[in-house]
Amino acid sequence: MINSKLPKIWYGGDYNPEQWDQEVMDEDLRMFKIAGIDVATVNVFSWALVQPNEETYNFSRLDEIIDRLHADGVYVCLATSTAAHPAWMARKYPDVLRVDFDGRKRKFGGRHNSCPNSPTYRKYSERLAEKLAHRYKDHEALLVWHVSNEYGGYCYCDNCAAGFRTWLQQRYITIEQVNKVWNTNFWGHTFYDWEEIVPPSALSEEWGTDRTSFQGISLDYRRFMSDSLLECYKLEYAAIKKHTPHIPVTTNMMGLYKELDYFKWAKEVDIVSWDNYPSLDTPVSLTSMTHDLMRGIKQGDPFMLMEQTPSQQNWQPYNSLKRPGVMKLWSYQAVAHGADTVLFFQLRRSIGACEKYHGAVIEHVGHEHTRVFRECAQLGQELYTLSDKILDSRIKARVAIVFDWENRWAIELSSGPTIALNYVNEVHKYYDALFQQNVQVDMIGVEDNLSDYDVVIAPVLYMVKDGYSDKVEQFVQTGGTFLTTFFSGIVNENDIVTLGGYPGELRKVLGIWAEEIDALFPDQSNQMVLQDELGALSGQYNCNIVCDLIHAEGAEVKAVYGSEFYKGMPALTVNQFGTGQAWYVATSPEPAFLQGLLAHICEAKGISAPITPISGVEVSTRVSPQGQPLLFILNHNDTAVQVELGQWHGIELISGNAVEQQLTLDAKAVCIIETK
Ligand code: GLA
Ligand code: ZN
Repeated sequence: MINSKLPKIWYGGDYNPEQWDQEVMDEDLRMFKIAGIDVATVNVFSWALVQPNEETYNFSRLDEIIDRLHADGVYVCLATSTAAHPAWMARKYPDVLRVDFDGRKRKFGGRHNSCPNSPTYRKYSERLAEKLAHRYKDHEALLVWHVSNEYGGYCYCDNCAAGFRTWLQQRYITIEQVNKVWNTNFWGHTFYDWEEIVPPSALSEEWGTDRTSFQGISLDYRRFMSDSLLECYKLEYAAIKKHTPHIPVTTNMMGLYKELDYFKWAKEVDIVSWDNYPSLDTPVSLTSMTHDLMRGIKQGDPFMLMEQTPSQQNWQPYNSLKRPGVMKLWSYQAVAHGADTVLFFQLRRSIGACEKYHGAVIEHVGHEHTRVFRECAQLGQELYTLSDKILDSRIKARVAIVFDWENRWAIELSSGPTIALNYVNEVHKYYDALFQQNVQVDMIGVEDNLSDYDVVIAPVLYMVKDGYSDKVEQFVQTGGTFLTTFFSGIVNENDIVTLGGYPGELRKVLGIWAEEIDALFPDQSNQMVLQDELGALSGQYNCNIVCDLIHAEGAEVKAVYGSEFYKGMPALTVNQFGTGQAWYVATSPEPAFLQGLLAHICEAKGISAPITPISGVEVSTRVSPQGQPLLFILNHNDTAVQVELGQWHGIELISGNAVEQQLTLDAKAVCIIETK
């Protein structure tokens, strides 16, 4: 557990007093006290301040800040500042500057702007991390390390090209093997020398977003870039650990951010942390799914909510205010899915540059008499009351959804069958169908065990990595229910097609063969016509995007297509395999169908909702280390709802009231029931 030094849900956020005079900090601390803020993330973008030139490090301002916070009882999440290099460094050592996708060498500016394979960047970022760790290792205020900030973006410079060749040599050993796994006989792209290989960019194989002539090289470049940035993180991690082996280290991730393989990253952090910025129209279930994914990348460990805005963002096209109650509701939503901290960006709103219209706990008016501050202070009070009751509690789901970044890259790099196929959307459809029925879900990776689950859903499992089909077979053989969809089992990890009929290695367990794949125009749809009643499903349902034309080879046909030349061909099948079942959904069905299908599958496994679903009301259960279930009920509606508690009774933790049978939950209200 990370919170042992301050055993409560940490409350606070990014704080930049270096942008202000000393007196302002006194005011801030007065208001932090009112708001119950006990953690400040400092030094996030201060590299230029702490290292004004190559020879000089100057931590005096940072010393003052940390000491001042500590004197007022505020702990520190200490960032290493390496997410934006200083201007002097860019001028003196241009290798720190990236080359962009279009081949342009960048000049100084922006942030998250350093080339991850720059020797200068690696040397000085590691050195800075080490100096910070050495200096603050014994500081009482230090709670956790925050390396860099939101690693991301790719570089295409010559250092990266050289690094890529080395990475390829380690992975494939010979150039012949590279040619083989990338299938370079296509278009005569055979390489005879490693030096002939250049990064896939707008100057070579790629164009637009995710358009490439060669999926193999593009996929490997994404792996390599994710690894390169991770390498930078690992250098800082090791430097910090030399001096503070017992202080946890994290770097803030970005949920569904596409460019980095967070399952791989999560292995290198002591605790996952992430920044949650939904907009007003983001589906509630998408936010929940993202929290579950951020919990899932570290096999269920609680995570840090590192950033969220107290009210609005500045970088979205339309930056709506969070409506009254919503900040609190979304904070508890994070906690309900495994967060053990609630932190904001930003504690005080800056006065210049692009984030001056970004929400903050302390706004430009500078006092505490604002709606946003009042709401923050109320939440601070509640988190103080909750104390350590929730910390380190876990979620025990019986249903898992598989998520894989490499599969996502491959699907979206694929030329055909359709541009409408978006991996995250397809995964979210399944998540949402379960969410609407109050079924708890774990998001898992392809390396995770399946045996902890009754039901495993792997939407669009296009890429089947070595050994994965054996794992699925074993799971189903021994009684598990597996479900996958259209466009699955098609390629290996290099995007090379598995011959012998789709869905390749999954064909046996699914008991089907997919002969052709049809792509539908946005205004086209087909129908899934049920052969018999299936749970609450009957009649027909719409489907679109892709229709696989499949043949049952042992699987039972549960629904068939309703139109087109493939009318009557299977659209939904289930195969009995060992003591388990494997479902194939050959197209992308409408939500009502998925809800019905998943209800049927869960029921067969005896998986039931903790309370009866109510539209717009979210439910999640965390189980305390002592085995005590904590039921979170969140009302996302604009009106109050009556909740039937059934067998749930106990203490509502925020109010301290006893609850049983029934309760009224106001609009945007939350309750957390500790059962007796
Ligand atoms: C990100 C960054 C912060 C800040 C916020 C604004 O999450 O980490 O520095 O820019 O966005 O929403
Ligand atoms: Zn580079």
